Amino acid sequence: MNSSLRIAGALFATVEFSFGQNVHSVANMFRPQATPADSVYNVSMLMLAICAAIFVVVGGLLTFTIVRFRRRKADDPREPAQVYGSNRIEIAWTVIPVLIVLVLGMATARAVVEVQDKRMPADALKVTVIGHQWWWEFRYPDLGIVTANELHVPLSTAAKPAVAALRLESADVAHSFWVPQLAGKTDVIPGITNTMWIDPRQQGTFLGNCAEYCGMQHANMLIRVIVESPAEFERWVAEQKLDATADPRVAAARATFLSLNCINCHTVSGTEAKGTFGPDLSHLMSRTTLGSGMIPNTQENLRAWIKDPQAIKRGNLMPNLQLNSRELDEVVKYLSSLK
Ligand code: CUA
Repeated sequence: MNSSLRIAGALFATVEFSFGQNVHSVANMFRPQATPADSVYNVSMLMLAICAAIFVVVGGLLTFTIVRFRRRKADDPREPAQVYGSNRIEIAWTVIPVLIVLVLGMATARAVVEVQDKRMPADALKVTVIGHQWWWEFRYPDLGIVTANELHVPLSTAAKPAVAALRLESADVAHSFWVPQLAGKTDVIPGITNTMWIDPRQQGTFLGNCAEYCGMQHANMLIRVIVESPAEFERWVAEQKLDATADPRVAAARATFLSLNCINCHTVSGTEAKGTFGPDLSHLMSRTTLGSGMIPNTQENLRAWIKDPQAIKRGNLMPNLQLNSRELDEVVKYLSSLK
């Protein structure tokens, strides 16, 4: 009871918190802000238009028939003459649907080809997206940056186009990477590398979600794409490239952290913590959320998460390390210093 209340509170906090910082509406594919999302949007509108036309024709004929040929008092009670077969009608209801399917199929194929065959410019920002149960790892191979759950990319403008080329891989089961305002869903499949690209033309935070059922916390495998001006992006890159801050004021807390099992699963650059099962923590404080977008990254939430990750995100791979309250304080203190 207590923990479900806490989760409800956390979710509420997330909603409140989301509105604070220029977050674009969740899962809204009707406001595309990148070229691949435009393609999806255009095909969807064509489909909707054709389906609407069919609905109007069928619904209209049905209504007309019901009204025009309704039973009247003066009607002859005997069954009217029955008509069997009409070549003209049968040809029409075969040919018209075939043509509609053909048009929709070709429009879809064209959109797929447009997105898939796009040549990546030489200066495209390369990002490897790795789906894990239940979080996202983002690696920038050319920049030497590893982060989690929040993908930073530069804004693309007509004067300075910027494409982020994504390679999608899975560390375990099938996932799907979907940020509706930026691109179509792309499956993330073990043993297969898929690709997608985005060229966002609006700044701010775009929300997405894993779109392929991948286990208990599938719904909490959230994505944030943070689109920044080129200057802001460069600043973020420069900060992420640095080794984790070695603030002498937290030396004792750092020693405690490094003495615990945390380091078997997490990396903190410039320390002996080199684990790769969990998210890289080198610049944890540069991220706005914890638990792959579940809760805002505050000291309180961080402490609650480390104290009992299972109470917040049941089934996730981080165990309850049974830390005592001094250890908890120290770990939170150290992690909070990782800007
Ligand atoms: Cu990952 Cu659903």
